[in-house]
Amino acid sequence: AISEPLKVMISGAPASGKGTQCEMIVQKFGLVHISTGDLLRAEVSSGSEIGNKAKEYMDTGRLVPDEIVIMMVTARISQEDTKEKGWLLDGFPRTFAQAQSLEKLKIRPDVYIVLDVPDQILIDRCVGRRVDPVTGKIYHLKFFPPENEEIKARLVTRSDDTEEKVKSRLEIYKKNAEAILSTYSTIMNKVDGNHSKDEVFKAIDSLLSKVQKDKENMMKLE
Ligand code: AP5
Repeated sequence: AISEPLKVMISGAPASGKGTQCEMIVQKFGLVHISTGDLLRAEVSSGSEIGNKAKEYMDTGRLVPDEIVIMMVTARISQEDTKEKGWLLDGFPRTFAQAQSLEKLKIRPDVYIVLDVPDQILIDRCVGRRVDPVTGKIYHLKFFPPENEEIKARLVTRSDDTEEKVKSRLEIYKKNAEAILSTYSTIMNKVDGNHSKDEVFKAIDSLLSKVQKDKENMMKLE
């Protein structure tokens, strides 16, 4: 039976591995990946009005105002491709107001994943993170070094990946986490993110496969 495609939200502290897992989820499940961090960084590098405004906040590790991100996400998630392929929302909602904006539009995920990683590990992951500006691929100097010298030479460090900024991002995350959970508590699934990326993906893969199967069974009953 052809079922409605999966709708997934993934959340977790800064550097808990959302972007890394999303690369793997997209490869297997073919969902449309919507990352507010990536969308905002694209606006910043294009020098658009939104980008210039967002930059002040992002550079200091603070959240970009709700109006801006809500507008960006609702525009992207309403595009045609998400209806056929499903969606994977990464880094949104990050505040209660953002969660409520989706509820108002009746945009609800099938499952809400929270990646759980201890604080000290998050800081090491951020400080060692490097991104390939050509492919968008995420590396880590120690855990996932680049494949060759050519890639290594072009890697960039995010402006918000200093130890001090990571700590303030983490604090902001913790302050908001509970309020968002209140919206999704019935579909929340905690995944232990403090393992190798393949092991973490294994847990996510079996969770999403189960959610997909349940959805198909529901369709048969209707
Ligand atoms: P965003 O880009 O969403 O940043 P974040 O939530 O802080 O998350 P990160 O991208 O830092 O980490 P990640 O969980 O994706 O981890 P990754 O896979 O890269 O947001 C940036 C900024 O944009 C915000 O601060 C805010 O200003 C603004 N913004 C975004 N959304 C917003 C919203 N909704 N509202 C308002 N403002 C918003 O992994 C991290 C590192 O660890 C990498 O080096 C990776 O290689 C390594 N790693 C990953 N998995 C493992 C593993 N299993 N073992 C070892 N190392 C690993």
